[in-house]
Amino acid sequence: MARVAVIPVLLILSFFQHKTLFSTILASGKEDIKDALRLRNVLWATKDDSRVILSWNNNLTNEEIKKYTVKYILSYKFFNTAKERKERLQEKEKIIRLQLHSGFNAKVKTQLFAKETEDTIEESDWTEFTYKAPPVYIQNLSCIIYNISFFNCTWHIKAEAPEDIQIFFSYKHVGKVFACQQYIKNARKKNIGCYMTQMHFQPSRKINLNITVRNLTNSSRGPSYYKSFTPQTIEKLNPPINVSVLTENTSIKIHWKPPPTIGSARKKCFLYQVKITDHKIANVTAENYKYPFHKPAKRCAAQVRVKKEICIANKIWSEWSEPVIIHDEKTMDILLLSLVLFCALAFLGGLLIHACRRYRCLEVLTTPVPHPSNNIKTWLADETHHQQHISMQMEMNSEITLETPEENRDENIQLQKYLKEFVLEDL
Ligand SMILES: *[C@@H]1O[C@H](CO)[C@@H](O)[C@H](O)[C@H]1NC(C)=O
Ligand SMILES: *[C@@H]1O[C@H](CO)[C@@H](O)[C@H](O)[C@H]1NC(C)=O
Ligand SMILES: *[C@@H]1O[C@H](CO)[C@@H](O)[C@H](O)[C@H]1NC(C)=O
Ligand SMILES: *[C@@H]1O[C@H](CO)[C@@H](O)[C@H](O)[C@H]1NC(C)=O
Ligand SMILES: *[C@@H]1O[C@H](CO)[C@@H](O)[C@H](O)[C@H]1NC(C)=O
Ligand SMILES: *[C@@H]1O[C@H](CO)[C@@H](O)[C@H](O)[C@H]1NC(C)=O
Ligand SMILES: *[C@@H]1O[C@H](CO)[C@@H](O)[C@H](O)[C@H]1NC(C)=O
Ligand SMILES: *[C@@H]1O[C@H](CO)[C@@H](O)[C@H](O)[C@H]1NC(C)=O
Ligand SMILES: *[C@@H]1O[C@H](CO)[C@@H](O)[C@H](O)[C@H]1NC(C)=O
Repeated sequence: MARVAVIPVLLILSFFQHKTLFSTILASGKEDIKDALRLRNVLWATKDDSRVILSWNNNLTNEEIKKYTVKYILSYKFFNTAKERKERLQEKEKIIRLQLHSGFNAKVKTQLFAKETEDTIEESDWTEFTYKAPPVYIQNLSCIIYNISFFNCTWHIKAEAPEDIQIFFSYKHVGKVFACQQYIKNARKKNIGCYMTQMHFQPSRKINLNITVRNLTNSSRGPSYYKSFTPQTIEKLNPPINVSVLTENTSIKIHWKPPPTIGSARKKCFLYQVKITDHKIANVTAENYKYPFHKPAKRCAAQVRVKKEICIANKIWSEWSEPVIIHDEKTMDILLLSLVLFCALAFLGGLLIHACRRYRCLEVLTTPVPHPSNNIKTWLADETHHQQHISMQMEMNSEITLETPEENRDENIQLQKYLKEFVLEDL
């Protein structure tokens, strides 16, 4: 009976201890206290807007505290995650940022060590604690900074979110609060992202996002979710600039310059990747790359992309730079060869057409044509004839006229002249 009574007493004591610090106390978890030999912990949580303070106590006497080194093992895991975080602490509280998590399971145990030898004297059992936060209606939050001053954040609204809510976005950076400039909306007019331009970022100072849910029917404020980023870690760089290619005898050399960045622009911060058509992507830390280039089968292009890796961990690659065409001597040879081949083919084609025309002329000549000039006149009169067809026919007939008997010659020459003008006009 006495044991049961101890728990609320401890809770009440701790309540008064922390009441002055925090206005809200959400002791919304169950306290599951297990007996160790002598030691045990009591856990509770307090919440201010953006964080949960998990605290615990022990039932050591003052003498024991003086005599031994006291340490605590804290282990906690957010709901629906696999990662367990474990820490050894000397203080009796831990600030836990929920971000987009709807709660966590935690457990604490006390360890007593001898002051001189650091030998373990005693260890308590685990005391477990569950913290349940208000429901979280959004997931997959992701933000990028690009082109120095542009800032985009996007999120998904969970299916279980009530229909009558709206999501509002703001962030705090270097002491100033910025409201969203332009919301990105889904088909149901819900805000699912924010797009901001002309923002200024201090690369190493945190961006603290505040995503607040509002009830649209009674305009009451729902839960707020908080997440913070270091600007440098979410920067998507522009592609490398001034990419150029130099062709050497047995290799090609690609040069570029790093793009502008909000953070450090020291050379060693950048990691590049070079991509050449049909070749493996290569990682490069210098601002140039020599590619051993043996048998260029065809014209190919080089592209470079960049991210920060060495100075700051950043997973976001830039887009690839515009492809730069590689003019290898051998590829030029192929080009020349194709050009020659094309000319030859064109010449042969011309010959063939000419021969064919000749052949058909002969064919036409073998059939008797009594008054070719009359025929031409008829064609000229017939305006419905297809123009192309007419000119072709006329060309053929103009050749025929050259073969016509001597007495028609003068008339024919005149007609030919007329025809040529006609054809020219048509063209
Ligand atoms: C701490 O609690 C345990 C279990 O209730 C008890 O056995 C022990 O005597 C307590 N220690 C002190 C110093 O109160
Ligand atoms: C969104 O997040 C959920 C859980 O956090 C995950 O299962 C899902 O694959 C994510 N969807 C996308 C498109 O990233
Ligand atoms: C990048 O920023 C510059 C200057 O702010 C602007 O002129 C340019 O259009 C931007 N480029 C893109 C792709 O948004
Ligand atoms: C940022 O959001 C704007 C507005 O939706 C969009 O036009 C732009 O492409 C986005 N930029 C990136 C890099 O996602
Ligand atoms: C987050 O935004 C909401 C709505 O604008 C505001 O009421 C709340 O105080 C903000 N939280 C913090 C920690 O600034
Ligand atoms: C507003 O409405 C929601 C349900 O639509 C309810 O849960 C909430 O308590 C209401 N808030 C106020 C201040 O009336
Ligand atoms: C890139 O090329 C342009 C034009 O060729 C030049 O004006 C500029 O200085 C170059 N930038 C760098 C960083 O070399
Ligand atoms: C390319 O080869 C020629 C002769 O084979 C040589 O004279 C020239 O120096 C070489 N050029 C380079 C850049 O290696
Ligand atoms: C290139 O670097 C990236 C990022 O660090 C790494 O994931 C990848 O395995 C590297 N590729 C090669 C071929 O080294």
